[in-house]
This record gives sequence, C-alpha cells and structure tokens, in this order.
Amino acid sequence: MGTDRMKKVCIVGASGKLGQYMVRHALDRGYEVVGVCRERSVPKLAAFADRMTIVPGPTNDPEVIRRAVAGCDGVLTVLAPWGVQQYSSGTAQAVLDHARPGARLVFSCGWHITRDGKDRYSWMFRTAVRVVAFLAKLVRAVEIDDQVEACRRVFASDTRWTVVRGSDLEEGESQGLPVWSRHVGDPVLASNLTRRVDFALFMVEALTDDTLVREAPAIVGCRTPSALAHADAPAGRA
Ligand SMILES: NC(=O)c1ccc[n+]([C@@H]2O[C@H](COP(=O)([O-])OP(=O)(O)OC[C@H]3O[C@@H](n4cnc5c(N)ncnc54)[C@H](OP(=O)(O)O)[C@@H]3O)[C@@H](O)[C@H]2O)c1
Repeated sequence: MGTDRMKKVCIVGASGKLGQYMVRHALDRGYEVVGVCRERSVPKLAAFADRMTIVPGPTNDPEVIRRAVAGCDGVLTVLAPWGVQQYSSGTAQAVLDHARPGARLVFSCGWHITRDGKDRYSWMFRTAVRVVAFLAKLVRAVEIDDQVEACRRVFASDTRWTVVRGSDLEEGESQGLPVWSRHVGDPVLASNLTRRVDFALFMVEALTDDTLVREAPAIVGCRTPSALAHADAPAGRA
C-alpha cells in the first residue's frame, strides 16, 4: 500500500509510552489519528487532544475497538500482557475481527515471541523471561502466556498483519529506523537495544511497507554496534 492510500489510522494503547510516540509519528505524517486507551489514561493524551480522536475504553472490548477502527486504513496495536483477564489476546482478537478487510495491522511485542520456533535465545534471555513470567503471574500483574496466545492468533489470521518484536528498550532521541532480522540470534541483533521512539517509528513505517506484510521482524537500534557491524543485513532502511 502506498503512503497516499494510508489516510486514517487507529492506535490501540495510545496513552502508553510506545503509543504516544506512535501518535506523534502518525500525526507528523499527516494521518488522521484515532486513539484507544483506558478511560483513566485519557489525560495522558492531553498534548494531542485537539489533533486526534480519542475513544476511551478497555482495548479488549470488541465494541470499543469496532467503533475506533471504523474507516481506518491501518491499525497499530500495543500488545501489553497486563492483568490476568486475557487482555492481550482479547485486544488482538477484537482488532482482527473488526478492522476493515485489507487494512494494515501492525502489532507490538517483545523478542520472546517466536513465529516459527527458529529464534535462538541466550540462556540468560530464556531464564529472564521464565523468571519474569513466573513472578508476574504470581502477583497477578502480567500474563506473558496471553501475549503469546495473542500473537498465535495474529500469525494464524489471513489479515495483512506485521508483528514487530522489540528488543530491550531505552529512552532518548531518535537515531533513525531500526534494522531488523527474521530470527532472534541473528548477529545483527546482538546489541539487543532500541530507542522506544524508534520502535514506534518502525511500527508506523510498517503501515506503508508491504515487504513487512506477514513478517515478524525482530528489531534493534540502527546505531547499535551489532547493527553497524552488519550494515548489509536485511534491514529497515534508515
Ligand atoms: N518494556 C520493554 O522493555 C519492552 C521490550 C520489548 C518489547 N516491548 C513491547 O513494547 C510494547 C510497549 O511496551 P512498553 O513497556 O513501552 O509499555 P507502554 O508503551 O508504556 O505500554 C503499556 C500499555 O499497557 C497499558 N497498561 C498498563 N497497565 C495496564 C493495566 N493494568 N491494564 C491494562 N492496560 C494496561 C498502558 O495503558 P495506560 O496508558 O492506560 O496505562 C499502555 O497502553 C509492548 O508490546 C511490549 O511487549 C517492551
């Protein structure tokens, strides 16, 4: 899809850190923006309130999503594994069910999500994911398994999806479009660090990049040592 055909986009999870960066990038491109966030988080979008439409409500509520994605050419969804009520999979399902046929759907998650099982994780990474998943479930705060289920549903769908898998994140000025690779463990990704503003940039760029349809790119900052050392790898072009 060319940029000219991307006019109206919905950002599901717009009030979070990643979401707000995506709102900014989308407005900079001149898109009409609709954002969905929890009612209590609407004030976090005050800086953009006169330039976007906000649909308050739980992102896993199909009716909220149905209203928000109406007429949208693209939907950017933050898959956050919060709580223990299938928030992530409920959100993904609502988007898959209600986005218009042919819309570009871009979802965020972390490197721990694997599409084809060919990712190669370090011992440290696997242990960290297991510990976080166990502790988080114990205090009923986060449900990593449900983010896995959300992505399984996206991968199985016949929509025009992209699942962007983020490395560890940091704040800071933009460095440009992250580079990407199909599998965690590929040398270009070794630095495992991306600026959050650039994660958002990659999500928004993916809306108009057809080469990313039905891909699950794992991303890393374009100025990180591993990215610079493997500048010829398949990459988001900065
Ligand atoms: N953090 C990392 O290091 C990291 C690393 C790799 C990938 N990622 C991926 O990056 C994306 C964004 O992550 P982030 O850490 O930057 O977070 P974020 O942008 O701050 O987003 C968190 C989202 O979760 C919502 N949320 C928070 N608490 C909630 C609750 N109790 N119930 C329902 N929703 C709740 C927030 O909405 P409110 O504004 O309403 O609170 C916000 O939309 C996610 O897809 C994550 O998997 C993160």
